[in-house]
Amino acid sequence: MKTLLQALRGEVPARPPIWLMRQAGRYLPEYRALRAHAKNFIEFCLTPDLAIEVTLQPVRRFGMDAAILFADILLVPHALGQKVAFVEGEGPRLEPIRTATALAQLSDSQFAATLAPVMQTIAGVRSQFPADVTLIGFAGAPWTVATYMIEGEGGTDYEHCRRMMWSDPHLFSAIIDRLVDVTASYLIAQANAGAEALQLFDSWAGVVPAALFDIAVIEPTARIVKAVKTLHPDVPIIGFPRAAGSHLSRYAAQTGVNAVGVDHMTDLCAVRAGVPKGTTIQGNLDPVLLLAGGAAMDRETRRLLAAMQGHPFIFNLGHGVLQSTPTDHVARLVSLVGAGY
Ligand code: CP3
Repeated sequence: MKTLLQALRGEVPARPPIWLMRQAGRYLPEYRALRAHAKNFIEFCLTPDLAIEVTLQPVRRFGMDAAILFADILLVPHALGQKVAFVEGEGPRLEPIRTATALAQLSDSQFAATLAPVMQTIAGVRSQFPADVTLIGFAGAPWTVATYMIEGEGGTDYEHCRRMMWSDPHLFSAIIDRLVDVTASYLIAQANAGAEALQLFDSWAGVVPAALFDIAVIEPTARIVKAVKTLHPDVPIIGFPRAAGSHLSRYAAQTGVNAVGVDHMTDLCAVRAGVPKGTTIQGNLDPVLLLAGGAAMDRETRRLLAAMQGHPFIFNLGHGVLQSTPTDHVARLVSLVGAGY
């Protein structure tokens, strides 16, 4: 039984399904061993044999209820022809797009061909999958991808994006519109290839000025959800607008997502009370607590399970697994959640 799909349909299985954002990655020794085979990260993501194996690693090791496709949100700007590099120890670097001329240089002509290996990865994973595991495809939401495209890097205070949103809203919308179109077609291609659920990562939703939250986050997400649902009405969509705070209930009500991913700063009980009936909730153990482990992790995990009893729920972290997380803490978490509510 695919408990993740049950939870996404609004059912409450006897124990909640569990998977973790960034569950495939550098905290796993078997990931690091394979990663050593590829010189650059984009090439690694676009090599189906490697990506299939890495997608399956956390399922094999921990018995997760879902696997997330191994890829990256920055494959989208790469496939549009923007220069994207992952610099060892520093993170992503892109040639920033801050003018209409720079935007006009992006092209869709190689988009599908560049991302074709991702579809091979999806098909390959599905062909080797245990029957009770669900494959989640994903993309970055337009706002979060735009922050990297405009700033040229992560971890800034988003000054260029915020200036553009306020002072050149036309250019900002043109970038978002472009991303809505290509992201919808990318997710549709993933569903065609065999992705059984889809997640939109809006990791930087929390830095959007309140007055602009609708145009940057809610409307673009709603347009993508509508486009995907037109062709794939039965493929559930999880939206993760990290740190959306007071906007979260409206996001759940207005985007059409089946589930909301909740960060660890937000109280799950308040989310439960605020989202429309039937919205599945995913979250939200602090990734640092998974890293720390021990009695505090056990206690907090049980508290989250108790808080979500009777509501459609997917156990996850409030953000991705951190690199120095001990694998035995992950195994412990899976067994605690496996014991049920
Ligand atoms: O288990 C999984 O979730 C696998 C697939 C996955 C990756 N990135 C692999 C990855 C997913 C779903 C992502 C999403 C992603 N990528 C997000 C949204 C989620 C989040 O964490 O907020 C973002 C913002 C990115 C952009 C990105 N990719 C950054 C900022 C970095 C550098 C940070 C770092 O850890 O170096 C990456 C690189 C990256 N993406 C790695 C992995 C496993 C590490 C690269 C390596 O092995 O060299």
